[in-house]
Amino acid sequence: MLSTLIEIEKEIEEFSINNKEELENYRIKFLSRNGQLSKLFDDLKQVSKEEKPVIGKKLNEVKKLAESKFEEKKTIVESGQKKSEEIDLTLPGRTFSTGREHILIQTLNEFVKIFREIGFKVAEGPEIEEEFYNFDALNTPAHHPSRDLQDTFFISKTKKDAKQYLLRTHTSPVQVRTMLKNQPPIRIVSPGKVFRNETVTVKNYFMFHQVEGLYVDKNVSMRDLKGALSYFVRRFYGKDIKTRFRPSFFPFTEPSAELDITCFLCKGKGCKTCKETGWIELGGCGMVDPNVFKAVGYDPEFYSGYAFGMGIERIAMMKYGIKDIRLFYQNDIRFLDQF
Ligand code: DAH
Repeated sequence: MLSTLIEIEKEIEEFSINNKEELENYRIKFLSRNGQLSKLFDDLKQVSKEEKPVIGKKLNEVKKLAESKFEEKKTIVESGQKKSEEIDLTLPGRTFSTGREHILIQTLNEFVKIFREIGFKVAEGPEIEEEFYNFDALNTPAHHPSRDLQDTFFISKTKKDAKQYLLRTHTSPVQVRTMLKNQPPIRIVSPGKVFRNETVTVKNYFMFHQVEGLYVDKNVSMRDLKGALSYFVRRFYGKDIKTRFRPSFFPFTEPSAELDITCFLCKGKGCKTCKETGWIELGGCGMVDPNVFKAVGYDPEFYSGYAFGMGIERIAMMKYGIKDIRLFYQNDIRFLDQF
């Protein structure tokens, strides 16, 4: 009987089970009521007293082996798992998407990098700003339309005599903060968030990003402003892009200008993006108004300077053909992954 058991043990080990059918055949052959092992258990009654412990022990061992192989193969077969040699190596691998900087931050950094290369430092200011820095010191008088409740998010005062706080409507207050703390020469760019009480549309959002620029020294002229901004445009958009300075108005600059560039999509011929004009508006700029210098205690007879401000969303939307400003803030991976 011992030799039969050894033979069965070998058979169990060699029995190949790759599917449900084979698993069932195995079960019937070794583990069922009429299977080989249960027959041997019946036969054990006839074994002599002396042999019984040895044969009984072996029989139990073989039964355990049969059962554990059955359980092991059952889980494999049921989970549909294939044997390692059956893994399909030609299947494409699973890809992982890696995190990256948001397209707005990428654009902002690219912008700042170009100015840093020509000697500008980065300066930052608070998003919750005092009315003084956002308006008064920037020669924006109390009755100016940009102070209108329609545009500005004012923060409720807690006391009657308390300072008026608001969410900054532009990055220009950083100019004032920087000049109050430092003496010329000053050469800064200031990127950051700004807020306006606008109706949300494909073009407008109640929050967006700007980069402010300021250069103050002796003998700074409009020529320096044109030189720096034209250099920036060539670096950012390409050598074939031209700049145009169109007279405009801002309370904090005199004279003021609007910076236009040739439409980089149609190269000036006229298309939908540039509304058939061949030109695209990039931002505002001008020579710092003497009243701003007075507000920060600089002598306007002695110093002069230029300033500029540009919206990052607009720049990124035009550069990458993004049609809806809201896409920037929805955190949809399908959108963000494209940049
Ligand atoms: N602060 C202006 C705005 O938000 C942009 C601007 C225009 C900034 C002219 C300047 C400037 O520094 O000189 O529309």
